[in-house]
Amino acid sequence: MASDKTFYLTTPIYYVNDAPHIGHAYTTVAGDVLTRWHRQKGESVWFLTGTDEHGEKVMNTAAQNNVTPQAWCDRLVEEAWKPNWKHLNIANDDFIRTTEPRHEERVQRFLQGLKEKGFIYEGKYEGPYCIGCEEFKLPGDLDEGKCKIHGRPVEMLSENNWFFKLSAFVPQLIEHYKKNPQACEPTSARNEVMAFLEGGVSDLSISRSTFDWGIPVPWATDQVIYVWFDALLNYATAVGLGDDPASEGGKKFASTWPADVHLVGKDILRFHAVIWPAMLMAAELPVPRKVFAHGWLLVGGEKMSKSKLTGIAPRDITDHFGVDAFRYYFLRAIPFGSDGSFSWEDMNARYTSELANDFGNLASRLIAMIEKYCEGKIPAVATDPGLSSMLVDVVAKADAAMVALDFQGGISAIMDFCKRANGYVTEQEPWAIAKDPERTTELNNVLYNTAESIRALAVLLHPVMPATTQILWESLGAQATLGDIAKQKIADVATWGQLPPGSVVTKGAVLFPRLEEK
Ligand code: ME8
Ligand code: MG
Repeated sequence: MASDKTFYLTTPIYYVNDAPHIGHAYTTVAGDVLTRWHRQKGESVWFLTGTDEHGEKVMNTAAQNNVTPQAWCDRLVEEAWKPNWKHLNIANDDFIRTTEPRHEERVQRFLQGLKEKGFIYEGKYEGPYCIGCEEFKLPGDLDEGKCKIHGRPVEMLSENNWFFKLSAFVPQLIEHYKKNPQACEPTSARNEVMAFLEGGVSDLSISRSTFDWGIPVPWATDQVIYVWFDALLNYATAVGLGDDPASEGGKKFASTWPADVHLVGKDILRFHAVIWPAMLMAAELPVPRKVFAHGWLLVGGEKMSKSKLTGIAPRDITDHFGVDAFRYYFLRAIPFGSDGSFSWEDMNARYTSELANDFGNLASRLIAMIEKYCEGKIPAVATDPGLSSMLVDVVAKADAAMVALDFQGGISAIMDFCKRANGYVTEQEPWAIAKDPERTTELNNVLYNTAESIRALAVLLHPVMPATTQILWESLGAQATLGDIAKQKIADVATWGQLPPGSVVTKGAVLFPRLEEK
Protein backbone atom coordinates (compact mmCIF):
# COMPACT_ATOMS: atom_id res chain seq x y z
CA MET A 1 0.00 0.00 0.00
CA ALA A 2 1.48 3.32 -1.02
CA SER A 3 1.61 6.05 1.57
CA ASP A 4 3.03 9.55 1.45
CA LYS A 5 4.46 9.17 4.94
CA THR A 6 8.03 7.98 5.13
CA PHE A 7 8.50 4.50 6.62
CA TYR A 8 10.55 5.40 9.69
CA LEU A 9 12.45 2.68 11.54
CA THR A 10 14.82 3.00 14.47
CA THR A 11 17.21 0.77 16.39
CA PRO A 12 18.07 1.41 20.03
CA ILE A 13 20.90 3.86 20.48
CA TYR A 14 23.57 1.72 22.07
CA TYR A 15 25.68 2.58 25.10
CA VAL A 16 29.23 3.39 24.20
CA ASN A 17 30.72 1.81 27.29
CA ASP A 18 32.24 -0.80 25.01
CA ALA A 19 32.52 -2.01 21.41
CA PRO A 20 29.54 -3.64 19.67
CA HIS A 21 28.87 -7.37 19.95
CA ILE A 22 26.63 -9.63 17.90
CA GLY A 23 23.58 -8.81 20.06
CA HIS A 24 23.72 -5.19 18.90
CA ALA A 25 24.41 -6.35 15.37
CA TYR A 26 21.36 -8.61 15.49
CA THR A 27 19.01 -5.67 16.03
CA THR A 28 20.71 -3.36 13.56
CA VAL A 29 20.96 -5.98 10.81
CA ALA A 30 17.25 -6.76 11.27
CA GLY A 31 16.50 -3.05 10.90
CA ASP A 32 18.69 -2.85 7.82
CA VAL A 33 17.03 -5.83 6.17
CA LEU A 34 13.55 -4.49 6.88
CA THR A 35 14.32 -0.98 5.62
CA ARG A 36 16.01 -2.32 2.49
CA TRP A 37 12.92 -4.46 1.90
CA HIS A 38 10.63 -1.42 2.24
CA ARG A 39 12.86 0.59 -0.10
CA GLN A 40 12.48 -2.18 -2.65
CA LYS A 41 8.75 -1.87 -2.19
CA GLY A 42 9.23 1.62 -3.57
CA GLU A 43 8.50 3.37 -0.28
CA SER A 44 10.25 6.39 1.06
CA VAL A 45 12.27 5.15 4.04
CA TRP A 46 14.22 6.67 6.94
CA PHE A 47 16.47 4.41 9.01
CA LEU A 48 18.04 5.75 12.19
CA THR A 49 20.63 4.30 14.51
CA GLY A 50 23.06 5.94 16.91
CA THR A 51 24.69 5.99 20.33
CA ASP A 52 23.58 6.69 23.89
CA GLU A 53 26.44 8.60 25.47
CA HIS A 54 25.31 10.11 28.77
CA GLY A 55 24.81 8.62 32.21
CA GLU A 56 26.84 6.98 34.93
CA LYS A 57 27.73 3.82 33.04
CA VAL A 58 29.53 5.62 30.23
CA MET A 59 30.97 8.20 32.64
CA ASN A 60 32.44 5.49 34.88
CA THR A 61 33.91 3.61 31.93
CA ALA A 62 35.61 6.78 30.70
CA ALA A 63 37.02 7.39 34.17
CA GLN A 64 38.37 3.84 34.35
CA ASN A 65 40.14 4.57 31.08
CA ASN A 66 41.49 7.91 32.30
CA VAL A 67 39.81 10.03 29.66
CA THR A 68 36.94 12.50 29.70
CA PRO A 69 33.53 11.04 28.86
CA GLN A 70 33.37 13.09 25.67
CA ALA A 71 36.78 11.90 24.49
CA TRP A 72 35.83 8.32 25.33
CA CYS A 73 32.59 8.56 23.35
CA ASP A 74 34.25 10.21 20.37
CA ARG A 75 36.83 7.47 20.24
CA LEU A 76 34.41 4.57 20.56
CA VAL A 77 31.96 6.02 18.05
CA GLU A 78 34.63 6.69 15.44
CA GLU A 79 36.80 3.63 16.03
CA ALA A 80 34.30 0.96 16.98
CA TRP A 81 30.64 1.72 16.32
CA LYS A 82 30.58 3.48 12.97
CA PRO A 83 33.19 1.16 11.39
CA ASN A 84 31.23 -1.85 12.65
CA TRP A 85 28.05 -0.72 10.89
CA LYS A 86 30.01 0.03 7.76
CA HIS A 87 31.57 -3.43 7.90
CA LEU A 88 28.13 -5.03 8.20
CA ASN A 89 26.88 -3.00 5.22
CA ILE A 90 24.24 -1.12 7.23
CA ALA A 91 22.54 1.53 5.10
CA ASN A 92 21.28 3.84 7.86
CA ASP A 93 20.16 7.30 6.73
CA ASP A 94 21.28 9.05 9.90
CA PHE A 95 23.36 8.36 12.99
CA ILE A 96 22.49 10.27 16.12
CA ARG A 97 24.76 10.83 19.10
CA THR A 98 23.10 12.12 22.24
CA THR A 99 25.99 14.52 22.82
CA GLU A 100 25.22 16.42 19.62
CA PRO A 101 23.80 19.94 20.01
CA ARG A 102 20.85 19.08 17.71
CA HIS A 103 19.79 16.49 20.27
CA GLU A 104 20.59 18.35 23.50
CA GLU A 105 18.76 21.53 22.46
CA ARG A 106 15.61 19.69 21.43
CA VAL A 107 15.62 17.57 24.61
CA GLN A 108 15.80 20.68 26.78
CA ARG A 109 13.02 22.35 24.84
CA PHE A 110 10.84 19.24 25.13
CA LEU A 111 11.36 18.98 28.88
CA GLN A 112 10.62 22.67 29.35
CA GLY A 113 7.39 22.13 27.41
CA LEU A 114 6.30 19.27 29.71
CA LYS A 115 7.02 21.44 32.74
CA GLU A 116 4.88 24.22 31.36
CA LYS A 117 2.08 21.72 30.82
CA GLY A 118 2.30 20.74 34.48
CA PHE A 119 3.68 17.21 34.08
CA ILE A 120 6.97 17.82 35.90
CA TYR A 121 7.28 18.32 39.65
CA GLU A 122 9.96 18.29 42.35
CA GLY A 123 10.30 15.31 44.63
CA LYS A 124 12.63 12.97 46.43
CA TYR A 125 13.78 9.66 45.01
CA GLU A 126 14.81 7.00 47.46
CA GLY A 127 15.49 3.53 46.22
CA PRO A 128 17.68 1.16 44.28
CA TYR A 129 19.32 2.01 40.96
CA CYS A 130 21.20 -0.32 38.60
CA ILE A 131 23.94 1.44 36.67
CA GLY A 132 24.15 -1.46 34.22
CA CYS A 133 20.50 -0.91 33.25
CA GLU A 134 20.59 2.82 34.09
CA GLU A 135 17.26 2.11 35.77
CA PHE A 136 15.41 2.93 38.97
CA LYS A 137 14.49 -0.50 40.25
CA LEU A 138 11.49 -1.95 42.03
CA PRO A 139 11.96 -4.50 44.81
CA GLY A 140 10.67 -7.24 42.47
CA ASP A 141 13.44 -6.47 39.98
CA LEU A 142 16.10 -7.53 42.47
CA ASP A 143 17.48 -10.82 43.63
CA GLU A 144 19.28 -10.60 47.00
CA GLY A 145 20.01 -6.91 46.41
CA LYS A 146 21.40 -7.57 42.94
CA CYS A 147 20.00 -6.58 39.58
CA LYS A 148 18.51 -9.69 37.98
CA ILE A 149 19.87 -8.71 34.57
CA HIS A 150 23.38 -7.66 35.50
CA GLY A 151 23.86 -9.79 38.58
CA ARG A 152 25.59 -6.88 40.30
CA PRO A 153 24.66 -5.00 43.48
CA VAL A 154 22.49 -1.93 42.93
CA GLU A 155 23.20 1.56 44.28
CA MET A 156 20.88 3.01 46.91
CA LEU A 157 19.90 6.51 45.86
CA SER A 158 18.47 9.28 47.98
CA GLU A 159 18.20 12.45 45.94
CA ASN A 160 15.99 15.46 45.37
CA ASN A 161 14.99 15.13 41.74
CA TRP A 162 12.48 16.23 39.18
CA PHE A 163 9.66 13.80 38.43
CA PHE A 164 7.50 13.09 35.40
CA LYS A 165 3.82 12.28 36.08
CA LEU A 166 4.05 8.92 34.38
CA SER A 167 1.22 7.44 36.45
CA ALA A 168 -1.24 9.91 34.93
CA PHE A 169 -0.90 8.19 31.55
CA VAL A 170 -1.55 4.61 32.61
CA PRO A 171 -5.26 4.52 31.66
CA GLN A 172 -4.48 6.08 28.28
CA LEU A 173 -1.68 3.56 27.67
CA ILE A 174 -3.90 0.60 28.54
CA GLU A 175 -6.57 1.96 26.22
CA HIS A 176 -3.97 2.45 23.48
CA TYR A 177 -2.73 -1.15 23.54
CA LYS A 178 -6.25 -2.54 23.78
CA LYS A 179 -7.27 -0.60 20.71
CA ASN A 180 -4.00 -1.09 18.82
CA PRO A 181 -2.59 -4.50 19.64
CA GLN A 182 -0.10 -4.17 16.77
CA ALA A 183 1.51 -1.25 18.62
CA CYS A 184 3.45 -3.68 20.82
CA GLU A 185 4.68 -7.00 19.44
CA PRO A 186 5.15 -9.89 19.70
CA THR A 187 2.13 -10.89 21.81
CA SER A 188 4.35 -12.01 24.68
CA ALA A 189 5.79 -8.49 24.85
CA ARG A 190 2.36 -6.89 24.78
CA ASN A 191 1.15 -9.18 27.56
CA GLU A 192 4.12 -8.22 29.68
CA VAL A 193 3.46 -4.53 29.14
CA MET A 194 -0.24 -4.86 29.90
CA ALA A 195 0.47 -6.76 33.12
CA PHE A 196 2.97 -4.11 34.11
CA LEU A 197 0.52 -1.29 33.42
CA GLU A 198 -2.33 -3.03 35.19
CA GLY A 199 -0.10 -3.63 38.21
CA GLY A 200 0.21 0.11 38.74
CA VAL A 201 3.03 2.42 37.75
CA SER A 202 4.65 5.17 39.81
CA ASP A 203 5.93 8.50 38.62
CA LEU A 204 9.42 8.59 37.20
CA SER A 205 12.43 10.51 38.44
CA ILE A 206 13.79 12.21 35.34
CA SER A 207 16.85 13.95 36.74
CA ARG A 208 19.98 13.15 38.69
CA SER A 209 21.96 15.42 40.99
CA THR A 210 25.02 13.41 42.02
CA PHE A 211 27.05 13.60 38.78
CA ASP A 212 27.17 15.88 35.79
CA TRP A 213 27.56 13.75 32.63
CA GLY A 214 24.24 14.56 31.01
CA ILE A 215 22.06 17.30 29.60
CA PRO A 216 21.37 20.01 32.19
CA VAL A 217 17.77 20.42 33.37
CA PRO A 218 17.01 23.80 31.75
CA TRP A 219 15.58 25.48 34.87
CA ALA A 220 17.81 23.71 37.43
CA THR A 221 21.24 23.35 35.92
CA ASP A 222 22.67 21.62 39.00
CA GLN A 223 20.81 18.53 37.78
CA VAL A 224 21.22 16.49 34.62
CA ILE A 225 18.37 14.83 32.77
CA TYR A 226 18.00 11.11 33.51
CA VAL A 227 19.80 9.23 30.75
CA TRP A 228 16.74 7.26 29.56
CA PHE A 229 14.57 10.37 29.34
CA ASP A 230 17.33 11.92 27.22
CA ALA A 231 17.94 8.75 25.17
CA LEU A 232 14.33 7.92 24.25
CA LEU A 233 13.92 11.37 22.78
CA ASN A 234 16.62 10.62 20.16
CA TYR A 235 14.00 9.04 17.91
CA ALA A 236 12.20 12.36 17.68
CA THR A 237 15.07 14.85 18.04
CA ALA A 238 16.85 13.22 15.09
CA VAL A 239 13.94 14.13 12.82
CA GLY A 240 13.38 17.68 14.06
CA LEU A 241 11.21 17.41 17.20
CA GLY A 242 9.68 20.73 18.17
CA ASP A 243 11.12 22.70 15.25
CA ASP A 244 9.11 25.39 13.49
CA PRO A 245 6.83 23.57 11.00
CA ALA A 246 8.10 25.78 8.19
CA SER A 247 11.76 24.91 8.87
CA GLU A 248 13.67 21.98 7.46
CA GLY A 249 13.46 20.14 10.79
CA GLY A 250 9.74 20.81 11.07
CA LYS A 251 9.13 19.42 7.60
CA LYS A 252 11.23 16.37 8.31
CA PHE A 253 9.24 15.74 11.47
CA ALA A 254 5.93 16.06 9.65
CA SER A 255 7.00 13.53 7.01
CA THR A 256 8.49 10.92 9.37
CA TRP A 257 6.65 11.08 12.71
CA PRO A 258 5.30 8.87 14.22
CA ALA A 259 7.94 6.18 13.87
CA ASP A 260 6.60 3.07 12.16
CA VAL A 261 8.80 0.63 14.06
CA HIS A 262 11.02 0.98 17.09
CA LEU A 263 13.09 -2.19 17.00
CA VAL A 264 14.40 -3.11 20.45
CA GLY A 265 15.56 -6.09 22.48
CA LYS A 266 13.15 -7.30 25.14
CA ASP A 267 15.49 -5.99 27.85
CA ILE A 268 14.35 -2.45 27.11
CA LEU A 269 10.72 -3.09 26.31
CA ARG A 270 9.21 -1.16 29.23
CA PHE A 271 11.14 1.98 28.48
CA HIS A 272 9.82 1.91 24.92
CA ALA A 273 6.29 0.68 25.47
CA VAL A 274 5.46 2.54 28.70
CA ILE A 275 7.69 5.55 29.39
CA TRP A 276 8.24 6.68 25.81
CA PRO A 277 4.62 6.76 24.64
CA ALA A 278 3.64 8.46 27.94
CA MET A 279 6.21 11.20 27.25
CA LEU A 280 4.71 11.69 23.81
CA MET A 281 1.16 11.68 25.15
CA ALA A 282 2.14 14.36 27.64
CA ALA A 283 3.46 16.47 24.77
CA GLU A 284 0.33 15.71 22.73
CA LEU A 285 2.36 14.04 19.99
CA PRO A 286 1.45 10.84 18.15
CA VAL A 287 2.84 7.65 19.68
CA PRO A 288 4.91 5.13 17.67
CA ARG A 289 2.97 2.75 15.47
CA LYS A 290 4.88 -0.27 16.67
CA VAL A 291 7.42 -1.26 19.29
CA PHE A 292 8.82 -4.68 18.41
CA ALA A 293 10.83 -6.44 21.12
CA HIS A 294 12.95 -9.27 19.78
CA GLY A 295 14.53 -12.01 21.88
CA TRP A 296 18.05 -12.39 23.20
CA LEU A 297 21.07 -14.08 21.75
CA LEU A 298 22.20 -16.36 24.52
CA VAL A 299 25.61 -17.65 25.50
CA GLY A 300 25.60 -20.55 27.90
CA GLY A 301 21.85 -20.02 28.39
CA GLU A 302 22.28 -16.39 29.47
CA LYS A 303 21.89 -13.10 27.64
CA MET A 304 25.11 -12.27 25.87
CA SER A 305 26.38 -8.99 27.30
CA LYS A 306 29.21 -6.53 27.45
CA SER A 307 29.10 -6.35 31.23
CA LYS A 308 29.37 -10.13 31.61
CA LEU A 309 32.14 -10.25 29.02
CA THR A 310 30.27 -12.86 27.00
CA GLY A 311 29.99 -10.58 23.97
CA ILE A 312 31.15 -12.06 20.68
CA ALA A 313 32.40 -9.43 18.22
CA PRO A 314 30.79 -9.53 14.77
CA ARG A 315 34.28 -9.81 13.22
CA ASP A 316 34.88 -13.11 15.00
CA ILE A 317 32.12 -14.49 12.82
CA THR A 318 32.44 -12.46 9.63
CA ASP A 319 36.17 -13.24 9.31
CA HIS A 320 35.18 -16.86 8.88
CA PHE A 321 31.75 -16.82 7.25
CA GLY A 322 31.67 -13.43 5.54
CA VAL A 323 29.36 -10.48 6.17
CA ASP A 324 26.40 -11.69 4.13
CA ALA A 325 26.26 -15.11 5.79
CA PHE A 326 26.28 -13.30 9.15
CA ARG A 327 23.37 -11.09 8.07
CA TYR A 328 21.51 -14.15 6.82
CA TYR A 329 22.15 -16.58 9.61
CA PHE A 330 20.57 -14.99 12.69
CA LEU A 331 17.40 -13.88 10.94
CA ARG A 332 17.05 -17.26 9.23
CA ALA A 333 17.78 -19.41 12.26
CA ILE A 334 15.94 -17.66 15.11
CA PRO A 335 12.23 -16.76 15.05
CA PHE A 336 12.22 -12.98 15.57
CA GLY A 337 10.81 -12.47 19.05
CA SER A 338 12.27 -15.67 20.56
CA ASP A 339 15.60 -16.17 22.28
CA GLY A 340 18.24 -18.14 20.43
CA SER A 341 21.68 -19.53 21.11
CA PHE A 342 24.49 -18.87 18.75
CA SER A 343 26.10 -22.09 17.64
CA TRP A 344 29.13 -22.29 15.43
CA GLU A 345 28.09 -25.79 14.25
CA ASP A 346 24.60 -24.71 13.24
CA MET A 347 25.93 -21.71 11.39
CA ASN A 348 28.44 -23.90 9.63
CA ALA A 349 25.74 -26.35 8.62
CA ARG A 350 23.39 -23.69 7.25
CA TYR A 351 26.20 -21.92 5.44
CA THR A 352 27.13 -25.10 3.66
CA SER A 353 23.70 -26.46 2.85
CA GLU A 354 21.63 -23.33 2.24
CA LEU A 355 24.10 -20.73 1.04
CA ALA A 356 26.98 -22.60 -0.59
CA ASN A 357 25.09 -25.63 -1.94
CA ASP A 358 21.53 -24.49 -2.60
CA PHE A 359 22.11 -20.89 -3.60
CA GLY A 360 25.77 -20.46 -4.57
CA ASN A 361 26.04 -23.68 -6.57
CA LEU A 362 22.79 -23.07 -8.41
CA ALA A 363 24.15 -19.74 -9.59
CA SER A 364 27.60 -20.98 -10.55
CA ARG A 365 26.23 -24.04 -12.38
CA LEU A 366 23.86 -21.88 -14.38
CA ILE A 367 26.52 -19.37 -15.39
CA ALA A 368 28.87 -22.21 -16.37
CA MET A 369 26.19 -23.88 -18.51
CA ILE A 370 25.24 -20.66 -20.27
CA GLU A 371 28.91 -20.10 -21.04
CA LYS A 372 29.31 -23.63 -22.30
CA TYR A 373 26.07 -24.13 -24.22
CA CYS A 374 24.90 -20.61 -25.17
CA GLU A 375 28.13 -18.74 -25.87
CA GLY A 376 27.73 -16.88 -22.64
CA LYS A 377 24.48 -15.21 -23.60
CA ILE A 378 21.04 -15.42 -22.00
CA PRO A 379 18.89 -17.53 -24.38
CA ALA A 380 15.40 -16.69 -25.69
CA VAL A 381 12.59 -16.08 -23.21
CA ALA A 382 10.81 -19.22 -22.02
CA THR A 383 8.32 -19.85 -19.24
CA ASP A 384 8.04 -22.83 -16.97
CA PRO A 385 4.54 -22.61 -15.51
CA GLY A 386 5.53 -24.51 -12.37
CA LEU A 387 8.36 -22.15 -11.49
CA SER A 388 6.60 -18.98 -12.53
CA SER A 389 3.43 -19.72 -10.60
CA MET A 390 5.34 -20.79 -7.52
CA LEU A 391 7.24 -17.52 -7.71
CA VAL A 392 4.00 -15.53 -7.54
CA ASP A 393 3.10 -17.29 -4.29
CA VAL A 394 6.59 -17.02 -2.88
CA VAL A 395 6.78 -13.27 -3.41
CA ALA A 396 3.39 -12.75 -1.77
CA LYS A 397 4.33 -14.97 1.15
CA ALA A 398 7.77 -13.43 1.62
CA ASP A 399 6.42 -9.90 1.45
CA ALA A 400 3.68 -10.57 3.99
CA ALA A 401 6.19 -12.16 6.35
CA MET A 402 8.90 -9.53 6.01
CA VAL A 403 6.61 -6.55 6.60
CA ALA A 404 5.30 -8.37 9.67
CA LEU A 405 8.92 -8.73 10.90
CA ASP A 406 8.77 -12.50 10.47
CA PHE A 407 12.23 -12.62 8.94
CA GLN A 408 12.51 -16.36 9.35
CA GLY A 409 9.23 -16.92 7.51
CA GLY A 410 10.20 -14.51 4.74
CA ILE A 411 13.64 -15.99 4.19
CA SER A 412 12.34 -19.58 4.32
CA ALA A 413 9.77 -18.80 1.64
CA ILE A 414 12.53 -17.44 -0.59
CA MET A 415 14.84 -20.37 0.11
CA ASP A 416 12.03 -22.81 -0.69
CA PHE A 417 11.97 -21.28 -4.14
CA CYS A 418 15.73 -21.74 -4.34
CA LYS A 419 15.27 -25.43 -3.52
CA ARG A 420 12.59 -25.74 -6.20
CA ALA A 421 14.88 -24.14 -8.80
CA ASN A 422 17.59 -26.65 -7.87
CA GLY A 423 15.06 -29.44 -8.15
CA TYR A 424 14.06 -28.18 -11.56
CA VAL A 425 17.64 -28.29 -12.84
CA THR A 426 18.16 -31.76 -11.41
CA GLU A 427 14.96 -33.06 -13.03
CA GLN A 428 15.56 -31.42 -16.40
CA GLU A 429 19.19 -32.53 -16.64
CA PRO A 430 20.32 -29.82 -19.06
CA TRP A 431 23.74 -31.51 -19.34
CA ALA A 432 22.01 -34.58 -20.78
CA ILE A 433 19.80 -32.54 -23.13
CA ALA A 434 22.93 -30.77 -24.36
CA LYS A 435 24.25 -34.01 -25.80
CA ASP A 436 21.47 -34.06 -28.40
CA PRO A 437 21.84 -31.32 -31.07
CA GLU A 438 18.11 -31.71 -31.93
CA ARG A 439 17.12 -30.50 -28.47
CA THR A 440 18.71 -27.04 -28.44
CA THR A 441 15.44 -25.19 -27.89
CA GLU A 442 14.62 -27.42 -24.96
CA LEU A 443 18.06 -26.80 -23.52
CA ASN A 444 17.75 -23.05 -23.96
CA ASN A 445 14.35 -23.09 -22.28
CA VAL A 446 15.69 -24.89 -19.22
CA LEU A 447 18.57 -22.46 -18.93
CA TYR A 448 16.34 -19.43 -19.38
CA ASN A 449 13.94 -20.65 -16.70
CA THR A 450 16.80 -21.26 -14.35
CA ALA A 451 18.31 -17.86 -15.04
CA GLU A 452 14.97 -16.16 -14.38
CA SER A 453 14.61 -18.04 -11.11
CA ILE A 454 18.05 -16.81 -10.08
CA ARG A 455 17.17 -13.28 -11.13
CA ALA A 456 14.20 -13.40 -8.77
CA LEU A 457 16.28 -14.92 -5.95
CA ALA A 458 18.92 -12.21 -6.30
CA VAL A 459 16.33 -9.45 -5.97
CA LEU A 460 14.47 -11.09 -3.08
CA LEU A 461 17.66 -11.82 -1.16
CA HIS A 462 19.21 -8.42 -1.83
CA PRO A 463 17.93 -6.83 1.41
CA VAL A 464 19.44 -9.73 3.38
CA MET A 465 22.70 -10.18 1.46
CA PRO A 466 23.38 -6.98 -0.46
CA ALA A 467 26.99 -7.61 -1.49
CA THR A 468 26.63 -11.21 -2.67
CA THR A 469 23.48 -10.55 -4.65
CA GLN A 470 25.18 -7.56 -6.30
CA ILE A 471 27.98 -9.84 -7.53
CA LEU A 472 25.39 -12.29 -8.81
CA TRP A 473 23.41 -9.51 -10.48
CA GLU A 474 26.46 -8.39 -12.41
CA SER A 475 27.34 -11.91 -13.34
CA LEU A 476 23.83 -12.43 -14.80
CA GLY A 477 24.42 -9.37 -16.96
CA ALA A 478 21.43 -7.76 -15.27
CA GLN A 479 23.22 -4.63 -14.11
CA ALA A 480 23.73 -3.58 -17.73
CA THR A 481 20.21 -4.46 -18.83
CA LEU A 482 17.84 -4.11 -15.88
CA GLY A 483 19.74 -1.48 -13.87
CA ASP A 484 20.58 -1.39 -10.17
CA ILE A 485 19.49 -4.39 -8.15
CA ALA A 486 18.38 -2.12 -5.28
CA LYS A 487 15.94 -0.44 -7.66
CA GLN A 488 14.17 -3.69 -8.56
CA LYS A 489 10.70 -3.65 -7.02
CA ILE A 490 9.32 -6.48 -4.90
CA ALA A 491 5.98 -6.08 -6.68
CA ASP A 492 7.64 -6.81 -10.04
CA VAL A 493 9.81 -9.76 -9.03
CA ALA A 494 7.23 -12.36 -10.08
CA THR A 495 6.80 -10.87 -13.55
CA TRP A 496 8.41 -13.65 -15.57
CA GLY A 497 10.72 -13.04 -18.51
CA GLN A 498 12.67 -9.98 -17.43
CA LEU A 499 16.21 -11.05 -18.31
CA PRO A 500 16.75 -9.83 -21.86
CA PRO A 501 17.91 -12.57 -24.26
CA GLY A 502 21.40 -11.94 -25.58
CA SER A 503 22.70 -10.25 -22.44
CA VAL A 504 26.15 -11.43 -21.57
CA VAL A 505 26.80 -13.46 -18.43
CA THR A 506 30.19 -13.60 -16.77
CA LYS A 507 31.66 -15.85 -14.19
CA GLY A 508 31.95 -13.76 -11.02
CA ALA A 509 33.63 -14.44 -7.71
CA VAL A 510 32.45 -17.58 -5.88
CA LEU A 511 29.49 -16.38 -3.82
CA PHE A 512 29.99 -18.59 -0.77
CA PRO A 513 33.48 -20.08 -0.79
CA ARG A 514 34.26 -23.34 0.93
CA LEU A 515 35.07 -22.71 4.56
CA GLU A 516 38.52 -23.27 5.92
CA GLU A 517 38.60 -25.85 8.69
CA LYS A 518 38.28 -24.17 12.07
O1 ME8 B 1 19.95 -0.46 26.40
N1 ME8 B 1 20.66 -10.39 22.29
O2 ME8 B 1 21.80 0.12 25.16
P1 ME8 B 1 22.62 -1.27 25.10
C1 ME8 B 1 19.95 -9.62 21.46
N2 ME8 B 1 21.31 2.66 25.50
N3 ME8 B 1 20.04 -8.29 21.41
C2 ME8 B 1 20.92 -7.70 22.22
C3 ME8 B 1 21.71 -8.43 23.11
C4 ME8 B 1 21.56 -9.84 23.13
N4 ME8 B 1 22.27 -10.62 23.91
N5 ME8 B 1 22.50 -7.58 23.79
C5 ME8 B 1 22.20 -6.34 23.33
C6 ME8 B 1 20.65 0.36 25.84
N6 ME8 B 1 21.25 -6.41 22.37
C7 ME8 B 1 20.21 1.81 25.75
C8 ME8 B 1 19.14 1.93 24.68
S1 ME8 B 1 17.36 3.35 23.29
C9 ME8 B 1 16.60 4.83 23.47
C10 ME8 B 1 18.56 3.30 24.55
C11 ME8 B 1 20.69 -5.29 21.63
O3 ME8 B 1 23.95 -0.91 24.57
C12 ME8 B 1 19.19 -5.20 21.83
O4 ME8 B 1 18.65 -4.40 20.82
O5 ME8 B 1 22.53 -1.97 26.39
C13 ME8 B 1 19.11 -4.47 23.14
O6 ME8 B 1 17.84 -3.93 23.41
C14 ME8 B 1 20.17 -3.41 22.94
O7 ME8 B 1 21.20 -4.08 22.19
C15 ME8 B 1 20.70 -2.82 24.23
O8 ME8 B 1 21.86 -2.09 23.96
MG1 MG C 1 22.18 -3.23 28.00
